[in-house]
Order: sequence, then structure tokens, then C-alpha cells
Amino acid sequence: MLIAGNWKMFKGPAETAGFCLELRRADVSGIEVVVCPPFVSLATAVQLLAGTDIAVAAQNVHWDADGAFTGEVSAPMLRELGVYGAIVGHSERRQYFGETDETVARRTEAALAAGLSVIACVGETETQRERGETEDVLRRQVSVLPADEQLVVAYEPVWAIGTGKSATADIAQEAHGFIKSLLDVPVLYGGSVKPDNAAELLAQPAVDGALVGGASLDVDSFTAICRASIRS
Ligand code: 13P
Repeated sequence: MLIAGNWKMFKGPAETAGFCLELRRADVSGIEVVVCPPFVSLATAVQLLAGTDIAVAAQNVHWDADGAFTGEVSAPMLRELGVYGAIVGHSERRQYFGETDETVARRTEAALAAGLSVIACVGETETQRERGETEDVLRRQVSVLPADEQLVVAYEPVWAIGTGKSATADIAQEAHGFIKSLLDVPVLYGGSVKPDNAAELLAQPAVDGALVGGASLDVDSFTAICRASIRS
């Protein structure tokens, strides 16, 4: 069971330090926990979580090792910081920053080749679900991902992200089962995971963990979700 917190564009280095010190004191032993701060806060998180089992991942990674790519950060640079992995292809990057299946594939391959773990995000929009296109969308998004021991997929239905409207446990189980039929990797669920719905979602046999957004920004709610994973 893997519980990852995607902080999105929240918490600079000072807030990150406070969060990590508090997280160190919380009991999350026996759970695979990852925090994903913004780039500028990665070094602080790595330093303050050193010596714990809590890992630190980035929210994006470029496909080249270096070059004229203003605003991008490469896999070797993240490795140098002591970062363990990266999220790739989050729907917010697909929606606002022109991320495509092709760029998701390039980022994923480069990150894996550099020794980073990857959490690759897939998921349908509300319109696609209403039109019965969910499986087609998932098939297309998953088809570009390589089978790799360091790859985890996160199923994040776009209509459930930041809306408070989580997928039902049945919807998550069905989508995860479909993704696993395409690619044999662990699949995390993401989209309005909160302390009060985490146990039910995580109890589904095809749900291997969670990618938590809003509820990962507060140590108490994040650790409550982490602990729910033990009971599931
Ligand atoms: P919320 O948990 O805020 O819905 O965000 C989910 C998400 O996008 C995690 O990557």
C-alpha cells in the first residue's frame, strides 16, 4: 500500500520544513509514504525526512538530461537532490500545460532510465465518462506506459479531482481492474481522497494505494489517510 501526497503548487521551503518536522513525529511506520512538494521545496523535504522511510518525489520531470528547456527540471538533477521519483502526466498538466500522451511517455521513460520511480496519472473527464469513453481513454493513456518495476499508475478521474466528489469504491475497483488488465502494475486511486472515505476506497482489491491532493496538505488528515491504509 502506497500513500502519496501531491501538494501541487502549495508550500514553499519554510512551510515544507514545518510539515516534514511534524510528519516525522507522526506514526506512519509500516506504510509506504511519499510526499510530492513543488520543485523549490524538494531539497528541504529530502533533508528533513532523511533517516525516515518517507520518500520525496517531484511533480514533473523532463525527458532530456540537460539542454535549452526553460523552466524544466531533469531526472539526473532530481537524483542529485536525493529525490526518489516523480509524478508524470497529472491531468492538471494535461489540461493547462499541453501535456500529451507522447510527452508523458517521454518523461516516464527518461525518469525510469535515470533510476527514478514514476507515478503516471491517467483518468477520464466527466464528459468522456458520460459518453461511455472511459475504457478507450484509459487504454490510450496506459498504452504509452512501459511495464517497469519502478512504475506505478494513478487512476485519477478528472471529475473527482478537487471536487469533493470521489469515485465510488465500485467505480474505482472497475477502473483499476481494467488498467491492470492492460498493464500489470500497482494502481493508486486519486480524486477527493479524504480521511472519511479512504478506508472504503483502499479496501478494494485492485486499489493499491492513494494519490492524495488537498487532504495531503495537512499532517493530521494526511496521516489519518495513511493509517486508514493499514486497516484496509
Ligand atoms: P484532490 O485530492 O484534491 O481531489 O486531488 C487529487 C489529485 O489530483 C492528486 O494528484
